[in-house]
Amino acid sequence: MPTDVVVCNGCCCGNTEKGHPEVPIDFLKNAWNEYGLEEHVKLRISKCLGPCSMHNVSLLRTEEKQEWLGKLSQKEHYEALIEWACNIVENKYNTEIPEKLLPHRFQRFQEVVIRD
Ligand code: FES
Repeated sequence: MPTDVVVCNGCCCGNTEKGHPEVPIDFLKNAWNEYGLEEHVKLRISKCLGPCSMHNVSLLRTEEKQEWLGKLSQKEHYEALIEWACNIVENKYNTEIPEKLLPHRFQRFQEVVIRD
């Protein structure tokens, strides 16, 4: 499995009509370009990942583990996703979650099907 950041922008996550914060897709894509991340860490914008109640949801995946993150609402949360990817580019063994994201982790045991 590739190392990737999966950012949900589905029926609930990022849906401002439902009162949820917008997902800053262009901001993320620009950062991925600016820092040359794509070769090492894929950025995937996905449709619904399942746990809509945790909007806005993202998933950090490496070969060893996956970390679900929910309730992402501020730009600094998305900056921390970028930070995570940059850390992996610098040192592929550094997959620690940035401190800012630690309170946003949640467990999910169902297999995820990414639809982008
Ligand atoms: S829309 Fe994001 S988990 Fe369902």
